[in-house]
Amino acid sequence: MAPSLLAADFARLADHVRQVEDAGAEILHLDVMDGHFVPNISFGVPVIEKLRPASGLFFDAHLMITDPLKYAEPFAKAGSDLLNFHIEVTDTPMKVVEHIRSLGVRVGVTLNPGTDASAIWPVIEAVDLVLVMSVWPGFGGQEFIPSALDKLRAIRPRLRPDQRLEVDGGIGPTTVPDAVAAGADTLVAGTAVFDQDDPGKAMRDLERLARQTAERTGSHP
Ligand code: DX5
Ligand code: ZN
Repeated sequence: MAPSLLAADFARLADHVRQVEDAGAEILHLDVMDGHFVPNISFGVPVIEKLRPASGLFFDAHLMITDPLKYAEPFAKAGSDLLNFHIEVTDTPMKVVEHIRSLGVRVGVTLNPGTDASAIWPVIEAVDLVLVMSVWPGFGGQEFIPSALDKLRAIRPRLRPDQRLEVDGGIGPTTVPDAVAAGADTLVAGTAVFDQDDPGKAMRDLERLARQTAERTGSHP
């Protein structure tokens, strides 16, 4: 599970992060929005910078921004462990991959619901993670778009065991089994974790459900 900070209480961020960290989370998903690539603005470098010393979690930054080449460096320096860029924002994705890698962090490539899986074939071997959006990015709390499952199934066989397949948007108790069965190994959840009375418990329950599904279906653990 990768809890998404977007649904956390911004007035007590460190506290909310600690709750999921204490509950066994390993990854924190950080939704960065620029108001251009997506019709919303969330948070940026200063927030990540301040959170960094407060948490040992792997920081998975989801850059919903039009210019990753310009901003990758400050996001890496702020303490991100992985930078996810959107395939839709560039005609030269390999350049973006190489630039992010040169900053000493991991690289993820992300696809919007309307983008065909084949758009990432030119860089798939060069990334550490593929992120499939199961909602249109910009807002939390939206409904899972089922066509994301076909995309996960199309991408999974092309990944090596050391590469991860992440899914983001509308993930909760009713969608975790389908997403895992389709091949996702990393599940982003905002509302279904932080918008609950006990975020730590909510995350653990989703994680248990994901593991049970992986065992039952023999999909990637
Ligand atoms: C959407 C973000 C997601 C969002 C998911 O733009 O990329 O990470 O936080 O929120 P939920 O889990 O509520 O769909
Ligand atoms: Zn996200």
